[in-house]
Amino acid sequence: MKNKRILSGMRPSGKLHLGHLAGALKNWIKFQEEAECFYMVADWHALTTEYQNTKGIKDNIKDMVVDWIAAGIDPKKSVIFVQSKVCEHAELHLILSMIVSIARLERVPSYKDIQQELSNKDLSTYGFLGYPVLQAGDILLYKTNFVPVGEDQLPHIELTRELAKKFNSLYKEVLTIPKGILTETPRLPGLDGRKMSKSYGNSIYLSDNESAVSKKVMTMITDPQRIKRDDPGHPDICIVYAFHKIYSVKEIDKIAENCISAKIGCTDCKKDLVQKLIEVLKPINEKRKELLSQKDLVDMILENGNAKAKKVAGKTLDEVKEAIGF
Ligand code: TRP
Ligand code: SF4
Repeated sequence: MKNKRILSGMRPSGKLHLGHLAGALKNWIKFQEEAECFYMVADWHALTTEYQNTKGIKDNIKDMVVDWIAAGIDPKKSVIFVQSKVCEHAELHLILSMIVSIARLERVPSYKDIQQELSNKDLSTYGFLGYPVLQAGDILLYKTNFVPVGEDQLPHIELTRELAKKFNSLYKEVLTIPKGILTETPRLPGLDGRKMSKSYGNSIYLSDNESAVSKKVMTMITDPQRIKRDDPGHPDICIVYAFHKIYSVKEIDKIAENCISAKIGCTDCKKDLVQKLIEVLKPINEKRKELLSQKDLVDMILENGNAKAKKVAGKTLDEVKEAIGF
């Protein structure tokens, strides 16, 4: 990873939950020590699905970036920036749109999947069809070597690679062919056992305080067959246990044993988890307070990141334009 460049992004979805931390963020934080990292707020991407209601996007950017930094994305190590503040993204998107066919874009799985998932929104737009072309632009502008993403994003990386190769062969070897890296992401369920997601209202947020965490954990579904305190439990079907697997790694065998032999009750088992979660969230909460107590600090971090990103992006775009003879 030495001297390699990494780029990843998230759509500004507001405050982040434990699923984001266990999934993407943990890896992002780790990569900072190994490579040159660019972490981007994909606000143009948000616009492709939220164009009818843009009110929340701006606040969501700030909430999300505060969570990134509070969780450990370090602006001294990584470039943290906002896509729409680096206009080169729009320009490369336009150029790449010339060399991709409509049929190819219609075949990208997320195109139909998300249209179905968000069937209340009209996503039969030119902008939404171009979602992965915009993403290809994000990646190629930074001559990115590796893109850590979830499985659902791999088809977008594949398209990015195709477009880079096509560009290089049509014009000049300017673009780096990136690789997606599927990072290990433990599946963290939500309080109700479904996927943790803001829209299900089943999330524990990085910004939740002690009493919120405690209340939420107490509502978690345990083994439904464990009615009386001395009924033996089945950890494998218990949500609390699924959390312990991530947050109590060292004691996990003991917890399973105590559950199966009914040595521990669910309330105590939950209290135990609350303590573990608070240990994780407390430093994040403190860091958040510190960040927000310094007026304009986050805005300054972003301005600085935007400028750094723009410098790299501008240079690539110059080469791109030169390659096509402009
Ligand atoms: N499409 C990504 C998602 O929904 C977000 C994203 C936008 C992204 N641009 C990117 C991810 C570039 C990696 C690289 O999660
Ligand atoms: Fe789940 Fe813990 Fe209760 Fe076992 S003791 S069912 S792991 S909450």
